[in-house]
Amino acid sequence: MQKPFDFVIFGGAGDLALRKLIPAWYRAYRDGQMPEGSRIFGTMRKAEQAENYRAMVREAAFNYLRDDEIDNETWNKFEACVFGVFINITERDEHWDALAKTLQEGNEERIFYMATPPAVFSACCKNISDSGMINKTSRVVVEKPLGYNGESAEKINADIAQYFEEDAIFRIDHYLGKETVQNLLALRFTNCIFEHLWDSKSIDHVEISISETVGLEGRASFYDDAGALRDMVQNHLMQLLCLVAMEPPSKLNADSIRAEKLKVLDALRPLTGDDVAANTVRGQYVAGESGGKQVPGYLDELGKDSNTETFVAIRAHIDNWRWSHVPFYLRTGKRLKQRCAEIIIQYKTVTHHIYPDSAGAMIPNRLVIQLQPDERVQMIVTSNNLEKHEADLVPSVLNLNLTDNYDKFYSDAYKRLMLDAAANNPALFIHRNEVDAAWGWIDPIIDAWQRPENKPQPYPAGSWGPQAAMDLLGEDGRCWFNVG
Ligand code: BG6
Repeated sequence: MQKPFDFVIFGGAGDLALRKLIPAWYRAYRDGQMPEGSRIFGTMRKAEQAENYRAMVREAAFNYLRDDEIDNETWNKFEACVFGVFINITERDEHWDALAKTLQEGNEERIFYMATPPAVFSACCKNISDSGMINKTSRVVVEKPLGYNGESAEKINADIAQYFEEDAIFRIDHYLGKETVQNLLALRFTNCIFEHLWDSKSIDHVEISISETVGLEGRASFYDDAGALRDMVQNHLMQLLCLVAMEPPSKLNADSIRAEKLKVLDALRPLTGDDVAANTVRGQYVAGESGGKQVPGYLDELGKDSNTETFVAIRAHIDNWRWSHVPFYLRTGKRLKQRCAEIIIQYKTVTHHIYPDSAGAMIPNRLVIQLQPDERVQMIVTSNNLEKHEADLVPSVLNLNLTDNYDKFYSDAYKRLMLDAAANNPALFIHRNEVDAAWGWIDPIIDAWQRPENKPQPYPAGSWGPQAAMDLLGEDGRCWFNVG
């Protein structure tokens, strides 16, 4: 039975805490997964906000949760476990001592969540330590972005490591908490049919796409510094790539999974200098029609000139036995045509076609693992058109909609990851070595993008990105799954 814990969110009045973390804990509480006696503290640097924290989280959470999820009686009980704390993260004063005292009198299990910009991680960890809050159970959860490049990530990691051991540092990537991502592991490693068909002998190529319809969403200054490569590729897309490409871990535990993911990152073929222009596409949206309305371009939303990319496509190769000559196409962007996150495993066609040409061309099998908007797995298989007398081959879909089997299913990646952090299970969190290896692959791309010829290419909002992204696959005789 899990022990009750104290969960301290630094940055408790911020967007992440209000929109993701508190609703996730409410769901956990409602589902009986939050041990009795657990407490959630949100810190903020305005005393008045801290005094009215419960009202603040209620208003925010009620906006965010679906109506059918809110039960006032349950919320009232949950709310009694939530506390606002007035603290200035970077200033060590009596308010830190007061929080330390409250924690010492509370639960032994302690989790600190850094829902703050990375610039204050170090000062915050120091103050946690100096005020005596760290006990032998303490762990810290850190949010991305973990650095701006390899060097800054190393510094952040080194700063945190002064106060917490590696096994007490939980680096979060919320994509790893998505149910379909979890199911990818189940699919690959519990089904005989897939593991035998999971390499260059059977697979033609892999596509991993995360497309968004939103633009800057009020995060202009953060996003313009980061861009799509740092914001989405260095973490979410590379983690998905690792899960698709890794060897079966010997056990389902953090050490085995992380070791296999690291091998994939180490085997990624480096992209440097001219390879970068040949294998990557950068884009930036201009005004266009998105979601039925006219929206401004990135520069207009931002209000200044910028070379930041809002779209990235990359052709990557993993140089190992399993994946030799299998391209992995990665793509992500803002203000694209549809919101969708998908992994497509495109199989090769059979080696010999026994049907006459009139039956149609051979259709390769395709495994589609959709993370959002729906959580489903589809297998495209070839079958015969029943309406025709003569042979007529058509693609048909075997469909597993993961949510259909559950009456009340609210997928919440943060809930899953918060519960894992509370249970001290780091399997779905990222090891420092993975962060370093991912930056090791990304940094040379960023360097090459500084060349004037690698400026982002414009694409209209509401499209699928710049033409160059279509050409990237076109030159290999392929096309993106949803841009047929
Ligand atoms: C975040 C990025 O990590 O992921 C955002 O910073 C992005 O820019 C978001 O919008 C996408 O997450 P999801 O779960 O909505 O696909």
